[in-house]
Amino acid sequence: MIRDVQEILLSKEQIQERVKELGEQITKEYAGKEPMLIGVLKGSVPFMADLIKEISVPCTIDFMAVSSYGASTQSSGIVRILKDLDSNIKNKDIIIVEDIIDTGYTLKYLIENLMSRKPASIKVCCLLDKPDRRKVALDINYRGFTIPDAFVVGYGLDYAEKYRNLPYIGILKREVYQTP
Ligand code: PRP
Ligand code: MN
Ligand code: MG
Repeated sequence: MIRDVQEILLSKEQIQERVKELGEQITKEYAGKEPMLIGVLKGSVPFMADLIKEISVPCTIDFMAVSSYGASTQSSGIVRILKDLDSNIKNKDIIIVEDIIDTGYTLKYLIENLMSRKPASIKVCCLLDKPDRRKVALDINYRGFTIPDAFVVGYGLDYAEKYRNLPYIGILKREVYQTP
């Protein structure tokens, strides 16, 4: 465990086991279909990479980059598209892949934006759900873990762009993000 982390919330092994279960669930529910997984850059990258290896129906992937946080720990509610999809999603079965759903602003914006492109369906797969901070109601179809309102980093999740490479999800020490 690195010095900036106070406590490991989810170990590498716990994450791997749960990701495998999510992949198996998606495989069952998409039998006969060919879903397109849309990863939300950059936080979803490790989750996306592990999840697709656990899905055994044919699938494709694409990415969108949106940002709502910048270097702050507070969500602004303002969502910007930094990179759009490469592909057309009309009549496709879409699974949005997210590392965490916090206020829900990012996902709400994405669902509305993608719905306007007339896909066959949209479902949501997130590794972490932090319901205590939710500002907008959302349906989550595949959820890895429900977590308490702590500042978590690792496995894609950053603070000021750091810690995404940690293989576990840890709680960041307060002193790292709070200026005295
Ligand atoms: C984080 C996280 C989710 C979003 C969740 O992304 O990866 O995408 O915030 O927050 P919300 O539910 O309050 O909208 P961020 O905007 O920090 O970009 P990043 O993925 O590049 O870190
Ligand atoms: Mn993100
Ligand atoms: Mg971030």
